[in-house]
Amino acid sequence: MDTKTENRAAEGGRAPIGVFDSGIGGISVLKKMISLMPEEDYIYFGDSANAPYGDKPDSEVLRLSESVFDLLLSKGAKGIVVACNTATSVAVRKMRGRYPDLPIVGIEPAIKPAAEQNRGGRIVVMATSVTLRRPKFARLMESFRDQAEIIAMPCPSLVEYIENDRTDDPALMEYLMKKFSRFADHPADAVVLGCTHYPFIADKIRRAAGPQAVLYDGSDGVAREIRRRLAEKNLLKDAAADPERKKALERCGAGHSGIGGNIEILNSAGENQIRLTRRLLGL
Ligand code: DGL
Repeated sequence: MDTKTENRAAEGGRAPIGVFDSGIGGISVLKKMISLMPEEDYIYFGDSANAPYGDKPDSEVLRLSESVFDLLLSKGAKGIVVACNTATSVAVRKMRGRYPDLPIVGIEPAIKPAAEQNRGGRIVVMATSVTLRRPKFARLMESFRDQAEIIAMPCPSLVEYIENDRTDDPALMEYLMKKFSRFADHPADAVVLGCTHYPFIADKIRRAAGPQAVLYDGSDGVAREIRRRLAEKNLLKDAAADPERKKALERCGAGHSGIGGNIEILNSAGENQIRLTRRLLGL
């Protein structure tokens, strides 16, 4: 590596990782990233003013995603995680074309591990209507069709329960019970949480799907993938190389508590949603 490249990598290493979702759901992914890379700085943008993306035309989801990219890049993000299945399916390819040098990682329904671990079983994929109607999803489903029975379950309006902090509303449990009632005779072996909001109601989904159902979500893979992509470009923050930072991390118990770097939370809907985000993140 020449000196110029080294300098750029060192500067980039100190920049935050951008993470975004249509709202607060991407926090389930950010949590995994923090536990894998506690020393990193993060900037999270939730577009709650425009949530849900999942019921919008693709062109609108693309336009919204583009403006979030602009925002995160204007704040110096060294890589971007699209912690939203819906925005990933519509926008990630285009964004990679536009920013070929920027590490960009999206999320897709975790059908692969579900199919591999439940061969011959029944797998229900819960996601928004946009995610399920995209060709990307059809291809994903097709490639595992001979390993398991895969059933798509569009869940319109489910995101709103989480966005509006109504996860204790009895109507939510009714919604889920109704959705899963069609599988009463042959319950699902696995349920894929194909929307980053759903891990926040995992206990209720488990109750509706039955105790046999194993839940899968893609956030672990996303966290590992962005770390790999940043490492490849020498853009990870090297805590050990900065003695002051290392001491600060040790003082706050990073690696144990899991939180070491700075986390900036932004939300298009304002303060209430930022408070809810912080609560979900455990801040
Ligand atoms: N968390 C988003 C996802 O993973 C929700 C999309 C929406 O806003 O409808 O798809």
